[in-house]
Parts: sequence; C-alpha cells; structure tokens
Amino acid sequence: MEFSNETGVSGNTDKVADKFAATVKKQANMKSCLQPIPKVLVSCRGLDGENNVLAVGYCGNCSYNPPMVMVGIVPTRYSYHMIKESGCFVVNLVDKSYQKAFDYLGSHSKSDEDKLAAMSIRLTNGEKVNAPILSDCPVNIECKVVDSIVTGSHEMFIGKVEYVHADVNLTDNEGNIDFSQIDFI
Ligand SMILES: Cc1cc2nc3c(=O)[nH]c(=O)nc-3n(C[C@H](O)[C@H](O)[C@H](O)COP(=O)(O)O)c2cc1C
Repeated sequence: MEFSNETGVSGNTDKVADKFAATVKKQANMKSCLQPIPKVLVSCRGLDGENNVLAVGYCGNCSYNPPMVMVGIVPTRYSYHMIKESGCFVVNLVDKSYQKAFDYLGSHSKSDEDKLAAMSIRLTNGEKVNAPILSDCPVNIECKVVDSIVTGSHEMFIGKVEYVHADVNLTDNEGNIDFSQIDFI
C-alpha cells in the first residue's frame, strides 16, 4: 500500500521491514554513533625512512572527482608525525584472514616496540608516494595529503588518491575491483 506522511516521507508499506518499523526512540551516546565503521590499516614512513602501520576506523571516501579519501589520526599516535611530515600515507583494505595482524597493529605502538617485526608484516614500496604498502592486503590506496582538519580528538588528513593497487583476481580488465570477494573485518 502507498503512503505519504506529514514529513514528506512516502513509501510502500509492503516493503517496510518489520524489525525497526516505527520503533520508540531515545537519546543515545553520540561518540562513534555513525556505524558501521570501516576498519583499515594505514601505513606510513617517517622522513628518516622508518615504516609504521596503525589500525584506523575514522576514515572514508571524501571526494569522487578527484578521488580522495580521509583518515583520522590522534596526535599522540606514533604514526601521526610521520604522516604530518611526509605528507603521504597508504590505506590498506583488510581481509579477515589478516585479523590477527590488524588487532596487533591497532593495539601496540611503534613507540614501544617494533610491532612490524613482531608480526612479520610484509611491505613493499609505494609506486607514487614514499610510504610502504602492505603486501598481504588485497587493495592498497596510495595518497598524498592535500589538506588536514583538526576536528577534535582526531586530525583528519585529506588524501588525494595517487595510485590503487588491487589483487589481479579481484580486478576486471577496466580496473574495477570486486569488493564482494573481500571478507572485510
Ligand atoms: C578497530 C580500531 C580502530 C582504530 N581507529 C583509529 C583511528 O581512527 N585513529 C587513530 O588514531 N587510532 C585508531 N586506532 C588506534 C591505533 O591503531 C593504535 O593506537 C595504534 O597502536 C597506534 O599505533 P602507533 O602509535 O604505532 O601509530 C584504532 C584501533 C583499533 C583496534
């Protein structure tokens, strides 16, 4: 049955899912209220050549043309100054098969230990930016920082996409990536 209400919302009741139909709402916690949060690994290199990787959930696409992504980094992270000074980073999309490494890299700081060696993380050099890419992640997005905004707890680094590496088995002749084959964590 077609309907339209006073807010201008219209629809078809036949297609409305029952689960949350007209549920009662209350004020809830505001922190990280936008879900689901992507879970990626951001790799970077300091001016002295040191490599690092951290888990990042505060990230997303932020421009279609030109392609841009943003990552939010807390200034106390060891990686923060590397990205700030080098002006580049790589966003690595992570499959569940890499969960153990993801958890470790997101809970240990390079300021305390060589976590990349501890997890035998395999790196190769970026094509366009001076930052490492994670060899065992299916997609690696090389970015140059074009701007940043301190939003509060995080500084959002806006990265212009310079190169995208994708597993050949996921990619068609036009370069389109079949993301459905990645079992995202
Ligand atoms: C699921 C998950 C999401 C995270 N998201 C972010 C994030 O968006 N920004 C951030 O700065 N840290 C985030 N972290 C925390 C860092 O990955 C963590 O503090 C890491 O140890 C920092 O490494 P570093 O000090 O070597 O740079 C996240 C951790 C996890 C497990």
